[in-house]
Amino acid sequence: MDQNKFIDDLISQMTVEEKAAQMLQVPVSVVGMDAAREWARKGVGSFLNALGSEMEELQKVSCEESRLKVPVIFGIDAVHGHGLNRKATIFPSQLAMAASWNKDIAHKAAEVTATEVATDGIHWNFSPVLCLARDPRWGRTDETFGEDKYLAGELGAAMIEGYQGDDLSDDTSVLACAKHFIGYGEATGARDSYDTEITFRKIRDEFLPPFRKAIDAGCATVMSAYGSIDGTPLTVNKKALRGILRDEMGFDGVTVTDWDTVNALITRQRVCGNHGDASRLAADAGNDMIMCTMEYYDAVIEEVKSGRLDEAVLDEAVRHILTVKCRLGVWEKPLKTGKPGSIGCDEHHEAALEAARGSVVLLKNDGILPLDPGKKIRKIAVIGPNADDIRAQYGDWTYFTHPVPGIEKEPERPYVTLLEGIREQTESTGIKVEYSYGCSVNRMGYYKGNFAGIPEFMEQCYKDNAHRYDSYKEMPYINEAAAMARSADIIILALGDNYNQHGEYNDRADLRLSGMQEALFRVLSTLHIPLITVLISSKPLAIPEVVKKSDAVICAFNGGMYGGRAVAETIFGKLNPSGRLPISFPYTTGQVPVYYNQFPGWHEGRYVDCPEKPLFAFGEGLSYTWYEYSDLKFDAASKTVSVNVKNTGDKAGTEVVQIYVEDVVSSVMTAVKNLAGFSRVELQPGESKEVSIRLDDEAFMITRPDETRVIEPGEFVIYAGHSSKDEDLLKVSVTL
Ligand code: NOJ
Repeated sequence: MDQNKFIDDLISQMTVEEKAAQMLQVPVSVVGMDAAREWARKGVGSFLNALGSEMEELQKVSCEESRLKVPVIFGIDAVHGHGLNRKATIFPSQLAMAASWNKDIAHKAAEVTATEVATDGIHWNFSPVLCLARDPRWGRTDETFGEDKYLAGELGAAMIEGYQGDDLSDDTSVLACAKHFIGYGEATGARDSYDTEITFRKIRDEFLPPFRKAIDAGCATVMSAYGSIDGTPLTVNKKALRGILRDEMGFDGVTVTDWDTVNALITRQRVCGNHGDASRLAADAGNDMIMCTMEYYDAVIEEVKSGRLDEAVLDEAVRHILTVKCRLGVWEKPLKTGKPGSIGCDEHHEAALEAARGSVVLLKNDGILPLDPGKKIRKIAVIGPNADDIRAQYGDWTYFTHPVPGIEKEPERPYVTLLEGIREQTESTGIKVEYSYGCSVNRMGYYKGNFAGIPEFMEQCYKDNAHRYDSYKEMPYINEAAAMARSADIIILALGDNYNQHGEYNDRADLRLSGMQEALFRVLSTLHIPLITVLISSKPLAIPEVVKKSDAVICAFNGGMYGGRAVAETIFGKLNPSGRLPISFPYTTGQVPVYYNQFPGWHEGRYVDCPEKPLFAFGEGLSYTWYEYSDLKFDAASKTVSVNVKNTGDKAGTEVVQIYVEDVVSSVMTAVKNLAGFSRVELQPGESKEVSIRLDDEAFMITRPDETRVIEPGEFVIYAGHSSKDEDLLKVSVTL
């Protein structure tokens, strides 16, 4: 039967109650199975956070015991791998993957994750995050592709295509969800879910571009954000959800609210006094599915029956939901079948390793790297809280941060921490590798990677704010590490943050290394033994002293299951790093925001007590070879940049060619430059290649104060080179 007719028929048979239920997404982990079964009988539209036999049972109830037998769809957060399944393949965090500047990696990670999620029967993955992290104090920085709209859009679109495949009804395709719409990362003071003090002009200019790409890539669902823009919560923001997303951007899929945001309209944001108003405004603003506010059901029914809300609003939402269900083919196959046996299979693990390799960013190298095991190294001291802690390496959204009741605490092997990676690399070299914990990231005590007793430990972590505990008590462990290091030829020190310093509710006011990590670093750096520091963290940290006094610095962010192996391969030269920073590193917390594409000020943006430039800029990253750029040209007719890149070193490598555009004079101020294209190019020693990159119109567009988007004719500067830093770029001036 024709899909539209099928949907029309179904809607015509639905009662207001059934429409309200279809618009609801119920969290099984919160309500429990008894209540979930009742919701299934009422004809609820979706469940989230269910796994295994629970899903099978709930789908059976929906298909057999609800009046119209409309199958439900199941949703989950599998944002860098299917992290709630302990056998699953865990990729680097989105931020770490962004450091690869590699769309193939993003696409493959999503494809693998979709296959694993679908193998567990699930239809819908709440990923990718397209918010920008321009203030790294934000707890969810690790979930983003970093600070730049162009990079986020390119990688986000690649992930969406990877999740959704060619056809949503394929066994291994799942619904992607572009989130969080819109401006969520820009909350005041980087406090998660707070108001966003920006204009819609700014939103169109800076925050919509990745969502435009997501919609062009066919993203089937969009999640509205927790926060508010200039006092209007996104949950009721008709201008954003209907005016911009639907009417202007042409989105025809399903919109879903974030977790319990309809209740938050009453309890937190205080723009509604009761559930009737909150539910009516949320539906009217254009939310099709309401996540987790079960009060919505009774309230919206009452709003329709009393005439305050037009039933057509519900019809429209239900139509969007049923259309997506038809595209998924849930009537034919109520649960996804995926690819049996694929969860954690070798091919998927290989993809995670490739992604981890792509994510390694070498930030400093005084010449110590790569280490040559043949050269008089007798002992390596591996030290630091994050050297052998798989939780820190995994980052957010795995069973550690979102534990599923009843599952084991430790993920199933294989995974490789940094310590294990160093042991792999030195296995047959005769080099002795010794390990010392040094100090904790942010709690008192001596944690040795023992997974027993995690619930109490987690509780303790939440109670102990980093600045409050008696960190001096860890001095004996620092001394122990220093004593062990004294006889070493090389120190490899892993510092960073841990799972209770990122994610929702976990914004930071201080980006310095927490706990006794700075003290540990200072003690080790006074030993005058070559020191390689590895940052395993969810975000950039303010580490100027570490950078100054280390002989080499590697940024790994959260590298996933093989993060440790990829870093160890880099240290020993098996891997020539090609990662580039997707986000700037500040000197100090007070310097944020320090993203590269700010507007020019006319007093130069200097602080009296801190440099104007970041510690490391967007796009930076070294390798074990050097690249030289020449012959930059721009063909205005085809908007194509071409530039010659030569590998002038003696090792093969991959350069990430970056193109930036500056609008020289415009009617409204524009950024000093914006990323407009990039390309990865592999070069043998001595080899050169001409790289051509076609720029989108978007690269030249501005948003005027009246919110119209135009290209104003005039002069533009096109930059090409190794990073966003002026000294790394060639430039050519063009008139369009
Ligand atoms: C809240 C988060 O903001 C969102 O990203 C996530 O998808 C939902 N909860 C569902 O878990």
